[in-house]
Amino acid sequence: MKGLILSGGKGTRLYPLTYTSAKQLIPVANKPILFRVIEAIRDAGIEDIGIVVGDTAEEIKTAVGRGGRWDVDVTYIHQDNPLGLAHAVKVSRDFLEDEPFVMFLGDNVIQGGIGDLVEQFRRSEWNSQIVLTRVEHPERYGVAELNGEGRVVHLVEKPSEPPSDLALVGIYMFDRYVHQAVDSITPSWRGELEITDAIQWLVENDFQVYPYVHRGWWIDTGEPNELLTANGLVLDDLTPRIEGYVDRDSEVDGRVTLEKGAEIINSVVRGPSIIGERTRIVNSYVGPFTAIYHDVEIEGSEIERAIVLEDSVIRDIPARIQDSLIGRSVHLVRSPMKPKAYKLTLGDHSQVGIL
Ligand code: TTP
Repeated sequence: MKGLILSGGKGTRLYPLTYTSAKQLIPVANKPILFRVIEAIRDAGIEDIGIVVGDTAEEIKTAVGRGGRWDVDVTYIHQDNPLGLAHAVKVSRDFLEDEPFVMFLGDNVIQGGIGDLVEQFRRSEWNSQIVLTRVEHPERYGVAELNGEGRVVHLVEKPSEPPSDLALVGIYMFDRYVHQAVDSITPSWRGELEITDAIQWLVENDFQVYPYVHRGWWIDTGEPNELLTANGLVLDDLTPRIEGYVDRDSEVDGRVTLEKGAEIINSVVRGPSIIGERTRIVNSYVGPFTAIYHDVEIEGSEIERAIVLEDSVIRDIPARIQDSLIGRSVHLVRSPMKPKAYKLTLGDHSQVGIL
């Protein structure tokens, strides 16, 4: 069995963070989402992994390499334009050959891995197995309708009257007949070859499509708030470890992870949270559900439920920073100079909430 990770796309909903970099490389609890996906596939016993890449190919190749770090073999597959998830399967034809495979969206985070479902599919005679989860607002998702025997009979995108509360999670398993399906469908109204149409084609042509109902949490990190939620959930599951330094005047509770070279000076850090390598927290408060990445400096400030990316500086901010996503090499500092004014250099699509 092979693995296929979809890591192309544009990530428009995470602008400006994803103007300059791939959304799949944004860290959740200080580990890029894409790395978490690779680990989930590897832990299910799959070593042959294809990664579909687009505009951000170079950055992804630099970060992942050939996969040696995870003991897997990575093959890159170029998709010139993000023309849909089924299109990504189409361009991966040579890599996939006629083998069954698991397809995983490179920006999704799932609790508990995929070992069980890959095992179930391996043992079955099914042509496809799709991962579903119960959601409160099925009208916002792709929704599956099952028949009395539990087989998938119909898929609908964002239905106004949902046939069930079972939403499609970004993980799918297919055998070789999916290639027939993706060659038979046509682009949707939004101009994309939809994987839901390919699955619907399988159902209508009497192929066996079965669900796997996932019971833990699952987050599609398309939007900033979802990214913060995923960060909080992963932090909640993390086993804490202290590899950094805490001085005597600081208070760091039991659910905090300090990575190598992190320093906590005269500060309070509450978990679940993680402080990255060589990051310094000085005279500050770091609250729960916060991930501060590598080489960051936070001084004289308070921050909670946030993600801060590498090389950023936050200094002497008078109000608590909360529910925030702060990019790479950002300088957020209180200016000592008059006139008393906000001095901002913000990229396109930046969002700032001021008291
Ligand atoms: P989406 O979130 O559907 O698309 P996107 O990344 O373009 O995001 P946005 O809507 O914010 O612009 O994509 C889900 C995952 O699949 C994501 O990791 C990108 C990847 N993808 C491809 O690799 N090829 C494609 O053609 C598409 C549509 C997505």
